[in-house]
Amino acid sequence: MDPVRNPYAPGAGQRPPELAGRDRELQQFEVVLERVARGRPERSMIITGLRGVGKTVLLNTFRSMAMQKLWGTGKIEARPEQSIRRPVAAALHMAVRELAPRHRAPERIEHFLGVLKSFAQAGEEPGGKGRARAHRWQPGIDVPAVRGRADSGDLEIDLTELFVDAASVATDLGVGIGLFVDEMQDVPADDVSALCAACHELSQIGGPLIVVGAGLPHLPTVLSASKSYSERLFRYARIDRLDREAADQALIAPAAREGVEFTPEALDALYEAADGYPYFVQAYAKVAWDVAPASPIGAADVEVAAPEAESELAVGFFGSRYERATPAERDYMRAMAMLGDDPVPTAAVAAELGRKPSSLSPARDGLIKKGLIYSAERGLVAFTVPHFGKFLRAQPT
Ligand SMILES: Nc1ncnc2c1ncn2[C@@H]1O[C@H](COP(=O)(O)OP(=O)(O)OP(=O)(O)O)[C@@H](O)[C@H]1O
Ligand SMILES: [Mg+2]
Repeated sequence: MDPVRNPYAPGAGQRPPELAGRDRELQQFEVVLERVARGRPERSMIITGLRGVGKTVLLNTFRSMAMQKLWGTGKIEARPEQSIRRPVAAALHMAVRELAPRHRAPERIEHFLGVLKSFAQAGEEPGGKGRARAHRWQPGIDVPAVRGRADSGDLEIDLTELFVDAASVATDLGVGIGLFVDEMQDVPADDVSALCAACHELSQIGGPLIVVGAGLPHLPTVLSASKSYSERLFRYARIDRLDREAADQALIAPAAREGVEFTPEALDALYEAADGYPYFVQAYAKVAWDVAPASPIGAADVEVAAPEAESELAVGFFGSRYERATPAERDYMRAMAMLGDDPVPTAAVAAELGRKPSSLSPARDGLIKKGLIYSAERGLVAFTVPHFGKFLRAQPT
């Protein structure tokens, strides 16, 4: 059928034509927004899940919900070994710019921007010349920096002061500020701890600023290793494969809007192939639509589409990640794959490779850093990418 009208959207962070199966999380977040704006005690939300289950999409949806309530919002994507100071500064700059036109006291906004400027600059190497100078942050804030606030150089103190000030700007308007953090497991350890401490402080004074995160399944472990009270700061919403009803909904609703249907057998075959994983649902549906000559899309169309969808996934979803691994890391993952699809003991991986467990730590740590595997429990590792074991087992060695 007409590829131009094809509604399906496989791709990282691509907004799906139908956000299926996430009603509970959306309702919970609605409550969070209302309570926080009213200064009620409330835990913020952290979305966790495997690759391609829709964390980024849900985080973006949360952000839109906050914007609809006229909140100021900003988003960062964490990167390993990169301090969050500047990204957070840029995100809060964005958030406050959204609020500024509605604020009655321009000098309050100006003061905040001055604090923000010195916060951003406090991260710079002292006495830095030449190269460091070249990297000087150009925030496009044309107010003088306000010295002595949020600029101690200690991120925990500075973030707390910055958050408190940002929250008070939002309080003037009866709204809140949402800072959205994607790939949160990659925030460096010291910064995670500073971020939790700042959120903790805010929650105690009822300041309407929340940090909403998304990350891999071991994110709760990362947070509680950093601050023991993190469980009381955040409500963890683990999102997973769509159940049959939601997966069907993700397929049927967008097609119906184009006047296209699926036969029940086609829906069976698509669920079998995609296993309810949102990325796969989009990928198979996209090809099935293109190969089907006319509505309804039938089981035979899905059968024709499957190999093409699989080869696209092999390149775009699996292959692109596999490429990032070093040869030693690839051996490690292949050994994991041979041991099945459940989390496997690291000792068993070592035994499979005939190596001492300690000699494999660099490979394991490298894979965790690259977000290809995770360890949610001591001594166990698992793939972050659904069906990755199956993909690896199908590769020629
Ligand atoms: N609830 C949903 N219903 C239907 N499709 C969805 C849903 N959530 C996400 N998708 C689709 O799944 C794909 C992956 O979504 P997204 O990039 O948000 O996943 P992710 O969890 O952030 O993955 P990663 O860990 O790789 O960043 C996208 O193509 C998106 O359109
Ligand atoms: Mg994502």
